[in-house]
Amino acid sequence: MIEKIQSLLAEVSNLTAKHTEDAENLRVKYLSKKGVISALMDDFRNVPGDQKRQVGMMLNELKQKTQEKIQSLKEQFENAESGCSDLDLSRTSYPVALGTRHPLSIVREEICDIFKRLGFSIAEGPEVEDDWHVFSSLNFAEDHPARDMQDTFFIQNDPQIVLRTHTSSVQTRVMEKTQPPVRIICPGRVYRNEAISYRAHCFFHQVEALYVDKNVSFADLKQALLFFAKEMFGADTKIRLRPSYFPFTEPSAEMDISCNICGGKGCPFCKHTGWVEILGCGMVDPNVLDNCGIDSKVYSGYALGMGIERITNLKYRVKDLRLFSENDLRFLEQFESAH
Ligand code: DAH
Repeated sequence: MIEKIQSLLAEVSNLTAKHTEDAENLRVKYLSKKGVISALMDDFRNVPGDQKRQVGMMLNELKQKTQEKIQSLKEQFENAESGCSDLDLSRTSYPVALGTRHPLSIVREEICDIFKRLGFSIAEGPEVEDDWHVFSSLNFAEDHPARDMQDTFFIQNDPQIVLRTHTSSVQTRVMEKTQPPVRIICPGRVYRNEAISYRAHCFFHQVEALYVDKNVSFADLKQALLFFAKEMFGADTKIRLRPSYFPFTEPSAEMDISCNICGGKGCPFCKHTGWVEILGCGMVDPNVLDNCGIDSKVYSGYALGMGIERITNLKYRVKDLRLFSENDLRFLEQFESAH
C-alpha cells in the first residue's frame, strides 16, 4: 500500500493536460467516487493496525496534492481563455511610482491658502472672454494699447471675443453678480500674444485678489500685502510700494519685496538693487465699481494681481519660463509637494 501511494504521488506530480477536458478526465480518474484514491480509501480498512497512522497521513497527502495539481491544471486553461496566461502572480510587485505636483500648482495653492486665511474665497471665470469683462468694464479707454492686436488673442478675428489677458476679468464677473462684502481670490491661466522666450510666454498664470466693502482703505491693502509677503517668503521679508498706473485702480502701486536670494544686500538676481517686483495693486477705481452695479459712494475696495510664474521663479529659482510647459520629467520630478 505504501509503495502504491508513493508511486501515485510521483505520478500525480507529473500530470499534464492539453485542454480543460483532459484536466476533467484526470479529476474523474483520481478524485471521483469510483476513482483511484477512493479505491485506496476503501482498502484502508485492510491496513494492519500499526501502519494505519502512517498510511492515513500519506493518503491524505496524496488526496490533497492531487486536488491541488488538478486545480492548477484547470486554472491554466481558464487564464489562457481570459487572455492572461502570461501573468505571473507570484512575482513581487514594483514600487508604485507616484507623480509630483507641477511647481505652478504648488505655488498657486500656497498663494490661495495664504489669502484663504485672510477670509478670501476662490472665484473662477472663463478663459475665452468678451471685451467688456477683460477691458471695458475695467476702465480701459477705447484706444488703450493693451487692446492692441500685439497683446491680445482674438477669437476668429472678432474684436469682441478674446482670450483673457489677465485674471482681473473675474473681478467684474463676480461684482456684477454679488453685492459687497466681496472678498475673492481668482487663480487662472491668461494669454498674451508674445514671442516665446526664456522670459515671456504666450500663456501664463495669475492670481487676482479683490476686497470690496464699506471703508476699505489703502492701509488694509498694505497690511494684506505685508502678511502675504511674510507668509510666502519668510518673516524677515520687507515690502515697498512704488506708485504705478493701472486703468482699473486709483491710486495704483507696484510692490517689491526685499530680494529673497541676497536678503536685500544686492545680487545679480535683483540687479544689485536689493528689491524684486512681485505684483501690481491699488484701490479699485470708482468707475469699475459703478460699471459693475456697486455704488462707489458707499463702497470702496482694493485689488491686486500677481504672476504665478514670477513667484515660482523667486521660490525655486527657475530661470527659463519655458520649462513650466515643456513637461520634461527631469524638471518636474524635482518638485515634491506637501499637499
Ligand atoms: N491685471 C494686471 C496685469 O495683468 C495686474 C494687476 C495690477 C491686477 C493691479 C490688479 C491690480 O488687480 O490692482 O498686469
